Amino acid sequence: MLNVTVLVSGGGTNLQAVLDAVDSGKIQNARVAAVISNNPGAYALERAKKHQIPAYCVSPKAYGTREAFHKALLDTLRDTEADLVVLAGCLVVIPDSIIREYRGRMINIHPSLIPSFCGTGYYGLKVHEEALKRGVKVTGATVHYVDEGTDTGPILLQKAVEVKPGDTPEILQRRVMEEAEWVLLPQAIHMIANGRITE
Ligand code: GRF
Repeated sequence: MLNVTVLVSGGGTNLQAVLDAVDSGKIQNARVAAVISNNPGAYALERAKKHQIPAYCVSPKAYGTREAFHKALLDTLRDTEADLVVLAGCLVVIPDSIIREYRGRMINIHPSLIPSFCGTGYYGLKVHEEALKRGVKVTGATVHYVDEGTDTGPILLQKAVEVKPGDTPEILQRRVMEEAEWVLLPQAIHMIANGRITE
């Protein structure tokens, strides 16, 4: 059984998709062992609690230095005995010390077809604003392993989503979540848990 620890910062709809996929059997041989948020107000923490899953908040505001925060985050991850770390809407820039420890065992979901609309500054609605500004007709989502760069690690899965006339960033974000993110992330976890992906 693969122990999955999910790192979140906000609403946690991707976390919810993973929890639902475990419950429905779409994800097998894996369980969500813990959820960690940097943001005490993240609704994702409530979703975890409703599922009786240990939920931790490790906020940078509680630590005097960035180093102390990073150490607390690593210590918490270790405590959860994570085999796989999933970044699901996690806005913390993961430090090299954590990336080293979880190399090949940490994945991220990004709401575009990497290498488009990714890297520093491309998060949340910004990704979809830029896609609309550029006038692309197809966008999507990507699940990738995490390395030292921003959205640069090896790609695991991608799914395309149509951009439609009249789309706003909010409408496009919702479609990318429904059609791609909530499908891909559970699929990636299932594949890893069942030995169907190697880096
Ligand atoms: C998603 O679009 C995810 O791809 C991005 O941040 C958003 C998080 O949404 N990294 P949620 O917290 O899972 O609802």
